[in-house]
Amino acid sequence: MPTSKQIHILNGPNLNLLGKRQPEIYGTDTLADVEARCGAIAQAAGFEVSLFQSNFEGGIVEQIHTAREAACAIVINPAAYSHTSVAILDALNTFDGPVYECHISNIHKREAFRHHSYVSGRADGVIAGFGTAGYEMCVRRICETLA
Ligand code: DQA
Repeated sequence: MPTSKQIHILNGPNLNLLGKRQPEIYGTDTLADVEARCGAIAQAAGFEVSLFQSNFEGGIVEQIHTAREAACAIVINPAAYSHTSVAILDALNTFDGPVYECHISNIHKREAFRHHSYVSGRADGVIAGFGTAGYEMCVRRICETLA
């Protein structure tokens, strides 16, 4: 049983604009809404969430390094870096706990370049197309499996 009760929710580029960015694809919830909802689910189960967003690949890599010591599990929406970043995959491969990959939209229904995710090669579970509720599903799963 891991000692940390912290779930790190990591978000890649342009997700700071969630709620304003292409709402027809990504909806109108903001990252603050995601943090509040996931936080409530986690708290009820004795966990905490910490939400991070960066538009920089290295920022996400460094936050994964922080999670190595601080977090029991990672939920990550790498956004466009899903489809390009070996560096984020390598960083996730240094993390011992569960990793869940979350995409708000169904990447498999979209352009072909979105169909492949490097991160899926490490993820213990992948969710796509459930809107921002996907984050909550990942947090629930972590709370259930690490309880
Ligand atoms: C996304 C899908 C990616 O293809 C895209 O680049 C994003 C968001 C999603 O949550 O649906 O920025 O990860």
